[in-house]
Amino acid sequence: MMLVMTKSRTWRGCVFIGTSLDGYIAKPDGDLSWLTEPEPRPHATDEGTNPALVWETFFPTIDTLVMGRATFETVLGFEGWPFEGKRVIVLSSTLDASDKAEVARSIGEVEALLAASDAERVYIDGGRTIQAFLSAGLVDELTVSIAPILLGRGSPLFGELDRDVLLTLRGHHSTEGDGLVRITYEVTPR
Ligand SMILES: NC(=O)c1ccc[n+]([C@@H]2O[C@H](COP(=O)([O-])OP(=O)(O)OC[C@H]3O[C@@H](n4cnc5c(N)ncnc54)[C@H](OP(=O)(O)O)[C@@H]3O)[C@@H](O)[C@H]2O)c1
Repeated sequence: MMLVMTKSRTWRGCVFIGTSLDGYIAKPDGDLSWLTEPEPRPHATDEGTNPALVWETFFPTIDTLVMGRATFETVLGFEGWPFEGKRVIVLSSTLDASDKAEVARSIGEVEALLAASDAERVYIDGGRTIQAFLSAGLVDELTVSIAPILLGRGSPLFGELDRDVLLTLRGHHSTEGDGLVRITYEVTPR
């Protein structure tokens, strides 16, 4: 009898993303100003007894980023490269090599790259990429910051799934000024 050994996954897939209340992460033209420069209004705030993760408590814990090509192109347009010192893998079937990131053609290729490394906490970014990782059962933690706006259209955060993904609430709070309701969930193993 042949014994097939499968190495179990050693890294955690972590999502950290801002969304409109109706579930869009960017306007159709890619505009993010509704999230990054919101019109000031007097939002009620709640510091929370079990607060969600925020960028300052999330980003330092990440060793690797996996992002979709669309998100990568957005980040390349920022002033300065924000991910210095972190390994970045871009998921794309069209992108040529980049000096900022490794390119993987499929989720399977990303998994192989991560399995061959000592990755522990992997930041999964970009709507279609998050949807693909969720479908593949490769997301363990989600922090979602819900902005007080309805966009009606744009790039969706979530899509169809062929089964329920059960979540356990880990923390939540809201922040002053931007009115973001921040929620951290863990994906409940089944
Ligand atoms: N609100 C926020 O916090 C936030 C965060 C991140 C991004 N964004 C914004 O959201 C928008 C991008 O979202 P998005 O949903 O379009 O995209 P995305 O996931 O960043 O990129 C989509 C691209 O990734 C590649 N890809 C995704 N899944 C793949 C798979 N399973 N196999 C192979 N390649 C795959 C494909 O690239 P190819 O076409 O090259 O094959 C696909 O076109 C941008 O405007 C970005 O700025 C917002």
